[in-house]
Amino acid sequence: MIEWLESRTGIPTWIRNFLTEDVPGGVSYWYVFGSATLIVFAIQIITGIILTFYYQPSSLTAWESTLFIYKHVYLGSFLISLHYWGASAMIVLMSMHLLQVLMFGAYKKPRELQWVVGVLLFFFVLSMGLTGYLLPWDLNAYFATQVAINIAASVPIVGPFIYHFLSDGSTLGTLTIGRFFGLHVWATPALLVGLVGLHLFIFKHNGAAGPPQDEPPTRFGRFYPDQVYIETLTALAVVAVIVLLAVFMPAPLLAKADPNNSQFVPAPAWYFYALYGLLRMFPQNLSLVPTVILPGIFSLVLLLLPWLDRNPSRVLARRPYLVTLTILSVGAIVGITIYSAKIIAAEQAASPSGQQPVVGYGAPRNPSLADFAPIVSIGSPAPAPGSMASAAAPAGDQIFAQNCASCHGANGQGQPGAFPPLAGNSYVTGDPQRVILTVLNGLHGAVQVKGVTYNGVMPAWKDKLTPAQIAAVITYIRSAWGNKAPAVTAAQVQALAK
Ligand code: HEC
Repeated sequence: MIEWLESRTGIPTWIRNFLTEDVPGGVSYWYVFGSATLIVFAIQIITGIILTFYYQPSSLTAWESTLFIYKHVYLGSFLISLHYWGASAMIVLMSMHLLQVLMFGAYKKPRELQWVVGVLLFFFVLSMGLTGYLLPWDLNAYFATQVAINIAASVPIVGPFIYHFLSDGSTLGTLTIGRFFGLHVWATPALLVGLVGLHLFIFKHNGAAGPPQDEPPTRFGRFYPDQVYIETLTALAVVAVIVLLAVFMPAPLLAKADPNNSQFVPAPAWYFYALYGLLRMFPQNLSLVPTVILPGIFSLVLLLLPWLDRNPSRVLARRPYLVTLTILSVGAIVGITIYSAKIIAAEQAASPSGQQPVVGYGAPRNPSLADFAPIVSIGSPAPAPGSMASAAAPAGDQIFAQNCASCHGANGQGQPGAFPPLAGNSYVTGDPQRVILTVLNGLHGAVQVKGVTYNGVMPAWKDKLTPAQIAAVITYIRSAWGNKAPAVTAAQVQALAK
């Protein structure tokens, strides 16, 4: 088999050559950041592709379809959160990789072009963060992108062009989402995959750079299995961290973008905090310094480093200027990031409008679907009452939102004087038979709930909802909003419906 494959493709030899490579200076944990970045990139591609199965890029559906993923797609919240934390992980790992290469002097001759391609990758990954940020189309996505687009527009000469290209109109809307979607899902990833290939191809050509010393290394480690083992361990650890974050701190989604919310304080992604802080440190009339001049100089120095740094040595002790400059830059970036985080937190605390996520980390424990009733029906059109023949278990929260919330309130809190609360109501959590009969046949006459008398009419549901739906909605009201009572089955309802 292998010989056949060899004669037709040469792939076995290629793999053997790749694996039997020597690691100059011995295997080391210093070299793991590049491959870890690559692993996370793969996670981003896979989760990203699955997200496009559901995501609908338009101002009428972007937020709704995102919410749909959280609410109705199997493991949807986990999927979004993997993608969300994967983005951060990729930027952290890529930065570590960059710093390691910088410190080891691995960008020096003959690896100049590998460095340049790496820096380009860095910029394009950051731009992925920017374009992906808009797509959920929540308040923060909208206003933070507005800020970013306005900054782009302020760049001399090309600014207006960039602005019109990105926003595709005078306001942010469906056309803007289309532009960002195209860039985020097609253009930039295609470019990234190509550049990653080029990066690895050049790596293969020059071989590994090895430790930061000027003499050729005398000791060699084995790439396979030793270095591969170390990199696999790291990859597993990285994946574990991303999974834990996705499970315990699911990506937050705020309320839908609303251009009229003038109180909302947007925040960029944390990896743009440094740029944002810079912007805030300069007065308005000098805004070109933080938006164009400083980032421009920084990018150029980074790109041209192999030629700007004429020092041939790779030993840290012989490179005082580079070491000082790196420490100062990293210190400044971290410092401004912290400064920026502080202003953003203070401003958000002063104007909390819209900051509470509707789903994800920080959302209320029991988000009520009633808040999204009109939206949920876009994703999964709820069958007209009574027509549900589906075999799948109906969702109690959804049935409640569509049939009961209008009177009993989105959170079961009722309406003073008119409709009794169901939250904290001992009748609801009491004898299931009575609750079933109430919902089946309706209720009228005076009832006492939490010391208050209600005297209204509760409609009968036996002709409008199936037994399964009634069981689901009763199970829901007996377990939501702090209520704790056992579930009710369709069979129990059926028995009482006769
Ligand atoms: C048109 C408004 C309205 C809708 C819609 C409605 N209810 Fe009611 N519900 C009432 C009123 C009014 C009462 C109190 C009746 C009374 O005063 O006798 C009540 C009472 C109840 C009670 C008894 C509470 C108690 O402590 O006695 C339960 C349980 C209940 N509703 C569940 C539901 C469920 C489940 C739904 C959705 C399938 C629903 N209701 C939809 C108006 C409504």
